[in-house]
Amino acid sequence: MNPNVAKSREPETQLILEQFLPYRLSILSNTVSNTIAREYRELFGLSIPEWRVMAVLGRFSPLTASEVGDRTAMDKVTVSRAVGRLLAQKLVKRETDPNDRRRSILKLTARGVRTHQKIVPIARGRESELAAALTTTERRNLDALLAKLQQRASEIAAEQDYAGPEKDKNMTRLNADGPNAKQIDFWNGPAGDSWTDLMDSQDRMLGPLGEAAMAATDISSGQRVVDIGCGCGTTTLELARRVGPSGHVLGVDVSTPMLERARQRAADVDNHSIDLQNSDAAAHNFTPQSFDRIYSRFGVMFFTDPVAAFSNMRTALKRGGKLAFVCWRPLDLNPWMANTISVATQYLDRLDPPGPDEPGPFAFRDPDRVRGILSDAGFTGIEMTPHDHALAVEADIESSVNKLIQLGPMAQPIAQSTAEIQDQIKADLTASTQPYLTETGVKIDSASWIVRAVNS
Ligand SMILES: C[S@@+](CC[C@H](N)C(=O)[O-])C[C@H]1O[C@@H](n2cnc3c(N)ncnc32)[C@H](O)[C@@H]1O
Repeated sequence: MNPNVAKSREPETQLILEQFLPYRLSILSNTVSNTIAREYRELFGLSIPEWRVMAVLGRFSPLTASEVGDRTAMDKVTVSRAVGRLLAQKLVKRETDPNDRRRSILKLTARGVRTHQKIVPIARGRESELAAALTTTERRNLDALLAKLQQRASEIAAEQDYAGPEKDKNMTRLNADGPNAKQIDFWNGPAGDSWTDLMDSQDRMLGPLGEAAMAATDISSGQRVVDIGCGCGTTTLELARRVGPSGHVLGVDVSTPMLERARQRAADVDNHSIDLQNSDAAAHNFTPQSFDRIYSRFGVMFFTDPVAAFSNMRTALKRGGKLAFVCWRPLDLNPWMANTISVATQYLDRLDPPGPDEPGPFAFRDPDRVRGILSDAGFTGIEMTPHDHALAVEADIESSVNKLIQLGPMAQPIAQSTAEIQDQIKADLTASTQPYLTETGVKIDSASWIVRAVNS
């Protein structure tokens, strides 16, 4: 027990978040990193973990992946995904350590060094803007205080490591049980991590479609809403904003990494009206007849038995409660995904393409099938409105191609293919994406359904 820790006058069970030091440090760190991240994301298509890896390699290269983890305080999975993408983008290279051939070391490539050199002045500029809030003495004191806190936090972490057996530092992901086990596995594997990493970009791209589905059902103050397949929580937060503190939003998702991100974001906005459950919506034990709306942005096409799943979800709705979601129309009307599949399948096998009625992003393309499912699940007043929208993929072709290869059924085969095949796929996709480049970035056509139904 540290004798310097002052005894709190608050009851021990009370947590005043805005005075809680770890919370304040995390909010400050997120706010500051996001201001810098926005620039390197827009200019170079890099995520925060990717830039952190590049920054430590720019300073301490060469390092092993585990040394990168130690220097960035990021977990193994995040480091390995970031390194994987940097290797694919040829910003980082992996070599055998000439002094110890069992060790594999990471370095920036010449391209990585150039990118690093372009980002450093941007990051330092932001640091100066931030530090302008402090006098020289305050800055010196802050540096000393941060060093003290870092030292104490490292001591506590070392004590924890010493106290226990080797712990699994990765989160425990949802058990893949029941009829949706395959999808639960999928969304808890690389797909869930990738969606989490691409969150901002996906939100920019899918935001208008989620908005269209929200506009299709009247969401108002005080309502209780379920967000099915809420992912990283963007729509959940927006629904919570719309229903206000007197309302309530329940987000349900099978993907543990995505839901963890949603939980962090909900904690950051300190919104007590949000409940996030890492659970299969087809089997979730909803409080019967307690919600006014069920909403989903592309989260309802992954059920093995959709009639059973929608029947279960309907139990959550009050009489007269409404369902609204957005789902994709056929693949051939969605070149943002079809182009990647057709380019990648020239070089790689597509593993297990889903059958026409099997779960997958395009499982609800056929309006007759969707009407049948909803009506068999007990919904009435079913309306399906086609919605066409040019998706804002990224600002330029290179970052758009880097994003597109991380989406859909070919993402894994591409990620696991050789550098030569990846280069070939990127080159072909660059060519087929060219016609979609506009003055405001890459915009690729999409076709979706806005679906509405009632629990009458
Ligand atoms: C295409 S993503 C959409 C995520 C989010 N709604 C968005 O728009 O960013 C599909 C989501 O549905 C979730 N999902 C798939 N099957 C599910 C199930 N049976 N129950 C709850 N969520 C599920 C996935 O984990 C994933 O987060």
